Amino acid sequence: MWKKKSLFAAIVVALMMALAACGSKSKETSSPSGSEGEAKKKIVVGTDAAFAPFEYMEKGKIVGFDVDLLDAVMKEAGLDYELKNIGWDPLFAALQSKEVDMGISGITIKDERKQSYDFSAPYFEATQVILVKENSPVKNALDLKGKTIGVQNATTGQEAAEKLFGKGNHIKKFETTVVAIMEMLNGGVEAVITDNAVANEYVKNNPTKKLKVIEDPNNFASEYYGMIFPKNSELKAKVDDALKKVIDSGKYTEIYKKWFNKEPNIQRLGQSS
Ligand code: ARG
Repeated sequence: MWKKKSLFAAIVVALMMALAACGSKSKETSSPSGSEGEAKKKIVVGTDAAFAPFEYMEKGKIVGFDVDLLDAVMKEAGLDYELKNIGWDPLFAALQSKEVDMGISGITIKDERKQSYDFSAPYFEATQVILVKENSPVKNALDLKGKTIGVQNATTGQEAAEKLFGKGNHIKKFETTVVAIMEMLNGGVEAVITDNAVANEYVKNNPTKKLKVIEDPNNFASEYYGMIFPKNSELKAKVDDALKKVIDSGKYTEIYKKWFNKEPNIQRLGQSS
């Protein structure tokens, strides 16, 4: 009796498994593979939208220089896409697991990152700067010695701070750049090291907070932003091709002027790869 019952159960389970396998198989084969003639695949692009003026939330939408540039590039490439605000650390994990097809997030092209990811050609030149309260005695990066510094975790800001003063508790790492700045306003850190355009934008938008930006080209080198892809992504070539067209057509200049109110120095973008 028991034997019969369990045999029956085993058959039912086997049948269910077979059916489930069929189901998932047929789903797989009908999903777009990107080859010609099949439905176009929507490219998923990840970002950390807490980095104005490159990407930030406004009335529930992701806006910014990167957002406009991405749109121009994807249109030029004829690619359908969706931009998702997934956060900075999660973005890199999502690229590794290929949950996203690419990222745009003011990401500096670095040799170390190039070992795990591919980058587009450079699209923006930046550098680290120091953001402090207006009455701070800090005049350059070396003046930060012995002070607590806020950075966004795993950014070139953190790298620059550690290069100058070594790793340790004096460098406080935050999930977003905005949170690092809040911490400074609350007195938790004395300075924030972040990307120049982001620091300038914050000061401009928050005059009552009484902050200032300190540049120090002796201690902070030029950086170049690139769009990022999982290693060996086929998208890179298409995006590079479209980015070049967007730059050559003047569309890039138009977007740059909209966000930065000045002419871009396009020639300097050719200096890094
Ligand atoms: N450029 C810096 C880096 O690549 C900071 C970028 C942070 N971007 C952001 N959307 N939070 O490390």
